[in-house]
Amino acid sequence: MVTRNRPWWQSAVVYQIYPRSFQDSNGDGVGDLQGILDRVDYLTWLGVNAVWISPFYPSPMADFGYDISDYVDIDPIFGTLADFDRLVAALHARNIRVILDFVPNHTSDRHPWFQEARRSRSDPRRDWYIWRDPSPDGGPPNNWMSLATGRNAWEFDATTGQYYYHAFLGEQPDLNWRNPDVRKAMHDALRFWLDRGVDGFRVDVLWHLAKDPQFRDDPINPNFGADDPPYRRLIPQYSADQPGILDIVSEMRRVLEEYPGDRPLIGELYLPLKRLVEYYGPNLDAVHLPFNFSLLWAAWTRAKWTAAALSRLIGEYDGALPHGAWPNWVLGNHDQPRVATRLGAAQARVAMVLLLTLRGTPTLYYADELGHESVPIPPDRMRDPFGINMPGGTQGRDPVRTPMPWDGSMNSGFSAAEPWLPLAGTAAVISVEAQKRDPRSMLSLTKSLLALRRREPALAIGDWAPLPVEGEALAYTRRWQDRCFIVVLDLESRAKTVRLGDGVAGRIDLSIHSDRVGEQLSGAVELAADEAVIISSTGSLPR
Ligand code: GLC
Repeated sequence: MVTRNRPWWQSAVVYQIYPRSFQDSNGDGVGDLQGILDRVDYLTWLGVNAVWISPFYPSPMADFGYDISDYVDIDPIFGTLADFDRLVAALHARNIRVILDFVPNHTSDRHPWFQEARRSRSDPRRDWYIWRDPSPDGGPPNNWMSLATGRNAWEFDATTGQYYYHAFLGEQPDLNWRNPDVRKAMHDALRFWLDRGVDGFRVDVLWHLAKDPQFRDDPINPNFGADDPPYRRLIPQYSADQPGILDIVSEMRRVLEEYPGDRPLIGELYLPLKRLVEYYGPNLDAVHLPFNFSLLWAAWTRAKWTAAALSRLIGEYDGALPHGAWPNWVLGNHDQPRVATRLGAAQARVAMVLLLTLRGTPTLYYADELGHESVPIPPDRMRDPFGINMPGGTQGRDPVRTPMPWDGSMNSGFSAAEPWLPLAGTAAVISVEAQKRDPRSMLSLTKSLLALRRREPALAIGDWAPLPVEGEALAYTRRWQDRCFIVVLDLESRAKTVRLGDGVAGRIDLSIHSDRVGEQLSGAVELAADEAVIISSTGSLPR
């Protein structure tokens, strides 16, 4: 394959698995590693190149695994290290890489390190966490706010008379990354998994690792509105993303580089574009892929999802990328509403074509390939503490973490027991089994897109350029050596003629309306409402 000299992750499609909800193998209503192993054939059939598995480490589950009490083991609810080794071997045997979720910003409050740290002010572990004296009035040391609760992020610890800091839940105390012993311990945790054959890491809330050493108050956000989530009341100027962060990241990267092969570091970074791209590092020596959530925001509401808005954001992202940096795109994850709910079923398909044909590594959230929607959760089934804690009451993130619907059997083939979160009401209709049978399904579309990407380097690693067209559509080209593809998408849900320009000719290789494959065209393409097409070009293109 022509991509031989590039790191594998540039041409890869990453599939995110939320392990609690993928497949339960032992009948406790919660997914597990053996469950993923039982579904490896599905991942192979679908055609993804890597899986990112959300945390499965020992955890009291205050934040469903993002509160870790041991970095180098598996929580019994998910299985054992032996299960893990078997899973890695099975995925590797099918040429699917394994990316783990690394959660370095905070541990669980039950982690032995924190248990020791909170014993006394002079405990050798004390400085592994962030402790401060109360302010003169006895209150918290500053105004920093928890992203999980929307309240002050400091928790008073009566035993030692100091506050500790937690950017998320009180059960998730932040580690002090300015302490070299913390860095060393966390690097060793990375090595533990690299030694077991892991191919890369997605790093949780990476921009939070460096905080202001003077602990200055965050400024009040003058644009804070009644509809904003509470944590937007402050601008996080000092509580995160501080000088020194890139040194921390490149040190982490060097740990991965101790190992052969190309092992990517992927950063979860909710930051404005200019700041985001700095995380590639001054010499491209920090993260390989700083998660780019701009598509996710563009798809937030149907009103913002327009050809003009998308071409602007794609252009801005392209223009902001440092020379030689590789792009990436995300449309969904375990924290954000499902794309099919935000855009509707028809445009979710168009969004999938976009995600899988832009230049850059795409991350696909499990069940988005089914057009799965966010599931309303009855109050007595809500589990997410972020939702339950938030003033004003929200559904939190449970609606996007519901079990994968596999087939028409009991609990849609996810579990022999009542699942930990309810299945979608539509589970039987949108299940993998039902959609596999239907060539017009979202699943069939996703599979065809992935197959085409695998066959055609132009779509995976080729150059990208906008194609100016007449008619309200988004159009661009992907080019690699002598192959060129034209992608045209209708975002307005309106049938239209899109003039591509004189001399442009080609053949439809893929369409959301599958019966058009093979159709020849010249100068223009007719799009049905909510249609997207991939055309292999046989004519000349405006340069
Ligand atoms: C990240 C995770 C989220 C978690 C939080 C705290 O944003 O994606 O699920 O709750 O970090 O670890």
